Amino acid sequence: MEAKKKDFSNIRLDLRSWKEVNDYLKINKGIILPIGSIEQHGPTGAIGTDSLTAESIAREVGLLTGVLVAPCQVFGMAEHHLGFPGTMSLRPKTLISVVHDLVLSLARNGFERIFFVNGHGGNIAILKAAFHEAYSSAIAQHLDVASNLRCKVASWFMVPEVYAEARKLYGDHEGQHATPSEISLTLYLQPTLLEKHLPLPRAKPAGKINSFLDFRRRHPDGRMGSEPYLAKPEHGAIFLKKASKALSKDLIEFLS
Ligand code: NI
Repeated sequence: MEAKKKDFSNIRLDLRSWKEVNDYLKINKGIILPIGSIEQHGPTGAIGTDSLTAESIAREVGLLTGVLVAPCQVFGMAEHHLGFPGTMSLRPKTLISVVHDLVLSLARNGFERIFFVNGHGGNIAILKAAFHEAYSSAIAQHLDVASNLRCKVASWFMVPEVYAEARKLYGDHEGQHATPSEISLTLYLQPTLLEKHLPLPRAKPAGKINSFLDFRRRHPDGRMGSEPYLAKPEHGAIFLKKASKALSKDLIEFLS
């Protein structure tokens, strides 16, 4: 099963000209900004899982709502995964600065509603902190949109319909990291990943962790309580549909 080829060119910010964006702003002050992470997802999962999933859902939401989609902020806060090769993390304060600067860039030219479709739990607290920095800066810099600027985190894996589907399909084997739900979506988006999709021994249940050293010690293969082998591309299609439908509804509410 392969992801259907859809035409996202009309809603991709990176494919529009500034004049087109200017015209868009006369009728819509909202934009979607996907954000993910580049971090280990167990011995068989793709390093870019959180970015691939966030970007695909963001584009789907864009298509459903007609709201522009900015390029994905692929690097997130993944300090706790640094014990595994391939992980690339921004420190919390760096990510706060990055998100602040991206929001201010958009706000300076009239965007008032910035909807972050998020693929990584470690980004949530950082995003919320960054929003407060951005609101203060918008006021301090006397931006026209300062009093109307709003940002929102929409984490697709926390959508109730997605959570319920993951429970139904995988029960307790969903786990907390390198979950079969997110892996399913990557298998749907990138069928070459199926070649590496092999059975694994049972994962250790999630425990409290602090540093990346602790993570690697407690979860030596990178999974937290998850059985990614249960993932299937056709499940990914279901998650994509459920997440994008629910988040489109949230976005429309956020824009009104
Ligand atoms: Ni993930």
